[in-house]
Amino acid sequence: MIKIGLLGLGTVGSGVFSILEKHAETIKRKVGTDLKIEKVLVKDKDKQRDLDFDDQILTDDIDEIINNKDIDLLVELIGGENPAYNYIIAALNSGKSVVTANKLVIAKYEQEIMGLAREKGVQINYEGSVAGGIPVIRPLKESFAANKIERLYGILNGTTNYILTKMTNEEREFDEVLAEAQSLGYAERDPHSDISGADAAYKISILSSIAFETSIDLNGVYVEGIEGIELEDIKLAEELGYVIKLLAIAKYHQDGLDVRVHPAFISKEHPLALVNDVYNAIYLHGDAVGDVMSYGQGAGRMPTASAVVADIMQAARDIYYQRPEVDNLDSIYNHDLVNISQ
Ligand code: NDP
Ligand code: HSE
Repeated sequence: MIKIGLLGLGTVGSGVFSILEKHAETIKRKVGTDLKIEKVLVKDKDKQRDLDFDDQILTDDIDEIINNKDIDLLVELIGGENPAYNYIIAALNSGKSVVTANKLVIAKYEQEIMGLAREKGVQINYEGSVAGGIPVIRPLKESFAANKIERLYGILNGTTNYILTKMTNEEREFDEVLAEAQSLGYAERDPHSDISGADAAYKISILSSIAFETSIDLNGVYVEGIEGIELEDIKLAEELGYVIKLLAIAKYHQDGLDVRVHPAFISKEHPLALVNDVYNAIYLHGDAVGDVMSYGQGAGRMPTASAVVADIMQAARDIYYQRPEVDNLDSIYNHDLVNISQ
C-alpha cells in the first residue's frame, strides 16, 4: 500500500479525493497496490464539505504529514507561494515524493525543486500545473524528446478564456463573467493572477524550460493581461474578422528565446479562435514532428484532478516497485487481466 498526505481539499483536492475513491480498483490494478489517503491538510477543519470521509483524516497541522514516516507521497493542492513552497521542500527533504498542480511554485523554484528531488531520489510530478486535464508536460519531456522545439504557443488560462468567450458570444460584462468563473472553480484564489496574465506566464515558463532546456527568469517574461479589454474592443475585433484571445508564446528569435503573454487578435479562421470557454490549447512545432496541437479543459475540478491522479499513480508505481519485497517483473507480467466483455 502507498500512503498519501493530501494538502488541500478545495476544488482540485476534492476532485482528486473523489477519483481515488471512485476508481480505487482500477487504480490498484494499474499501480500494483492500493493507494490510501492517510491525512488531509486543510485550513478550516470545521468547514462543511460535500465528501464522505472519516473526520479523523483531517488535520490543520502539517507536521502530522511531513513527520509521518508511513506517508510516502505528498500531494500539494493548497496553492499560492507560501506555505506551499515550504511544504514541498520539507516533504522532499524527508524523502517523500511530491505531486503538485502549483504553477507559481514550479515556475519560480523549478530548478531548486527538481535538483532536490534528484538528490533525494524521489519524484516530483506537476502535470496538473499547466492546462488542467491536457497532457503537455509529460509529452514534452517524453513523446517530443527527440525534437528541437522551435516554437510553442497557446491559450493557457481557462478563466480568461471563459471571460473573453462570454464577452464575445453573449456580450456580457467582464465583472459578471469573472464572478461566474470563480463560482465554477476555474479562477485562482486571487483571480488577479488570472486576469493579469501572471498565471499564463507561470505556465508558459514551465513549458519553455522543458521545451527549450533552459531556466526562465519570470522577470524577463513580457506579461499583459485582459483587464483593459472592454466590450467595444471585442466588437471591433469581430467587425474586422478577429476574436481576442490571451496568448502565451515562446519562440526563438535571432537574439534568443522570447517568452510573452498578451491579448492578441486571432483570425476567426484560425483553430485557436475556436477554443472557447474553459478550454485551453497548446500548439508546438518540433523539427521532426512538425505542428502538433492539443486541446481540452484547462481548468476545473475533474479535468485537473485527472492529471493530478495520473501523476500520483506514476509516483506510486515508482515507489512501490522500488520496495525490496516487491518482485518487479512478476508484478508487471502476472497481474489479472480485465475481461473487457464484462
Ligand atoms: P481552492 O482554493 O479551491 O482549495 C485550496 C485548499 O487548500 C482548501 O481546501 C484550503 O482549506 C486549503 N488551504 C489553503 N491554504 C492553506 C493553508 N495555508 N494550510 C492548509 N490548508 C490550506 O484551490 P484549488 O483547488 O482551485 O487550487 C489548488 C491548486 O491547484 C492551486 O495551486 C491552483 O493553482 C492549482 N490548479 C487549480 C485549478 C483549478 O481549476 N481550480 C486548475 C489547475 C491547477 P479549506 O478547505 O479549509 O479552506
Ligand atoms: N486559474 C487557472 C485557469 C486554473 O483559469 O486556467 C488552471 O490552472
